[in-house]
Amino acid sequence: MLEHGGRLLRAVRQYGIAREDWLDLSSGIAPWPYPIPSIAPEAWARLPETDDGLEDAARHYYGVRHLLPVAGSQAAIQALPLLRPLGRVGVLAPCYAEHPHAWQRAGHQLIELEESQVEAQLDQLDVLVLVNPNNPTGRLVPRERLLAWHARLAERGGWLLVDEAFMDNSPPHSVADCAERPGLIVLRSFGKFFGLAGVRLGCVVAEPSLLRRLDEWLGPWTVSGPTRVLAQACFADHAAHRAQLERCALASQRLAALLQGCGLAPSGGCDLFQYVRSTQAAQLHDFLARRGILVRLFEQPAAVRLGLPATAADEQRLAQALTDYQKETA
Ligand SMILES: Cc1ncc(COP(=O)(O)O)c(C=O)c1O
Repeated sequence: MLEHGGRLLRAVRQYGIAREDWLDLSSGIAPWPYPIPSIAPEAWARLPETDDGLEDAARHYYGVRHLLPVAGSQAAIQALPLLRPLGRVGVLAPCYAEHPHAWQRAGHQLIELEESQVEAQLDQLDVLVLVNPNNPTGRLVPRERLLAWHARLAERGGWLLVDEAFMDNSPPHSVADCAERPGLIVLRSFGKFFGLAGVRLGCVVAEPSLLRRLDEWLGPWTVSGPTRVLAQACFADHAAHRAQLERCALASQRLAALLQGCGLAPSGGCDLFQYVRSTQAAQLHDFLARRGILVRLFEQPAAVRLGLPATAADEQRLAQALTDYQKETA
């Protein structure tokens, strides 16, 4: 299993701090979960049925004509490498580690690339995979560049796989509206923007023939009945979308300013997290964890990623800890 944020129980054991005393900033999930609507007993009791309104609500929310709901975009990340012949797969690095892991495990030849290397390598690739905006760096590749890369890959039957797990906060940069084009596949994650990662829902946007193959491969009932009810309510609540967008943007700006003020200027980020590269990342991670603040540590390159504090009190607690860290390391 690869390392991920959100492993709070492990931190409880490792640092001997009670669960309720932690401030968990280790994931990029919005810290304001959407309210859970009332869910009828039959959603729990019956097998889930497709076309119960979830697909329509999701199509409307994402502005696309064809999609497949899955049990978290993670399910698609693992299945897609099994749906094409073995080939050369470029992954824009650093990147959410499950992507390179899944392609390599399926037997494909993996090539880790920087954005500046793509132009030169593209014609030798069968698949190019990237996260946009990227996790953990926040780097955003412009839409026009992605569509040009896709056109070149598609000419030879290749795929461009764009993981837009963190795109809900900046929808104009999405390429989901173009994903009917053969060879363009877009993954969307429900849990991050809606703050409900525990329900395990994602959507794959692609041409219908590929969605059918993926559906077939994943099998029936992958998305639970209660999740289907809950997600419909979330997708349809436009006023709540606007509020969440604004709240995330402001909290992310405040987080960036706070880090900058403590000598830890972010080297990237998006409206759901900030990313700080530092050779002292491991030391900073440990310093914060000893004070019950969990952030996500990356080793290669050395960096930490911080999710959004939910309240002014959480922000204050982080600011105090970072000020102490600055004093101790001065
Ligand atoms: C970039 C990226 N893609 C996909 C996922 C998987 O998310 P989910 O399966 O909840 O949709 C994650 C989870 O952290 C992620 O960071």
